[in-house]
Amino acid sequence: MSKKTIHILAIESSCDDTGAAVLKNNRVLSNEVAGQKVHAAYGGVVPELASRAHQQNIVPVVDQALKIANVNKSELDAIAFTRGPGLMGSLLVGTSFAKSLSIALDIPLIPVNHMQAHVLAHFIQDDSQKQPPFPFLCMTISGGHTQILRVNSHEEFEILGETIDDAVGEAFDKTAKLLGLPYPGGPLIDKNAKEGNPLAFSFSEPKTPNPLDFSFSGFKTAILYFLQKEQKKDSKFIENNMNDICASVQRSLVNILMNRLKLASEQTGINHVAIAGGVSANSEIRSTLKAMENEMGWITYIPKFEYTTDNAAMIGIVGYYKYLNKDFSTENIIAASRLDINK
Ligand code: KG4
Ligand code: ZN
Repeated sequence: MSKKTIHILAIESSCDDTGAAVLKNNRVLSNEVAGQKVHAAYGGVVPELASRAHQQNIVPVVDQALKIANVNKSELDAIAFTRGPGLMGSLLVGTSFAKSLSIALDIPLIPVNHMQAHVLAHFIQDDSQKQPPFPFLCMTISGGHTQILRVNSHEEFEILGETIDDAVGEAFDKTAKLLGLPYPGGPLIDKNAKEGNPLAFSFSEPKTPNPLDFSFSGFKTAILYFLQKEQKKDSKFIENNMNDICASVQRSLVNILMNRLKLASEQTGINHVAIAGGVSANSEIRSTLKAMENEMGWITYIPKFEYTTDNAAMIGIVGYYKYLNKDFSTENIIAASRLDINK
């Protein structure tokens, strides 16, 4: 029996990117993102401004995604949207839009957990990605989250370790801010690090009661004190050493991440290892993970670049699996700024 072709429109609005994508089954036909430059001047995301920008962007971004996919609204089988976790004012825009469109078109509404979506981005059918078998380990590293998961199925996620304070993306962005770089600073640290010496400076690894957990607030404070101390000796310390500082900070953060991931693999005996989330766009984490294939005998999974930072295609793939399970919601569903990984 031939399977029906399903078209899903997916919407992402959890933080500061407004995304819309159209999927034909598990393939992406379009994946549009409107970023929000307005936050750069403030050194971080301003929630009130983010929701206003989503309000402005959502209609044009959805129109563009349908146009590029060459799919008419009447051909859609379901609307998937990010229910949470994220900024409430941002989530409400995508949630309300998705509800209205699903009522207007009389098609199912599918709420999606943003954290599941980062992980399941690996299951988007794309020639440049391979799909991990279950169970596999996934380290989700983003501006809001840092966790190591044992992924048992498309629906079952077990948290083995997670941050007890800041996310690793915040460690990148806050360090960048201390260095006078604009928000989001993660990609700029990555760029500068390519020209620097990663062994120029060293920063100690924070300890946590659960060795698989992370803590980055102490790391950020250590960088602050280090810079203050050095600037007393040389007022131009930052500009004279920018690339070396970036390379050293990045090396330390990557080491913290990889040490936990190696421990998780040893403890579980699982050697299929994936990364996901915005920080998995980082060139050093990508090359270091790849090197583990020889060093540790891992089989590694790195998402295609455009599926790492916040995007709607990853919301669409979760929507696809939920559609197959007929896991729909009513229009009474509400956005949730905090959401358990399995909800
Ligand atoms: O997944 P994402 O787009 O949004 C959240 O759900 O948080 O992740 C954004 C984070 C930001 O902290 C940004 O600085 C970081 O990902 N990021 C990077 C790189 N590209 C994005 N961090 C380090 N190196 C990069 N190349
Ligand atoms: Zn995200």
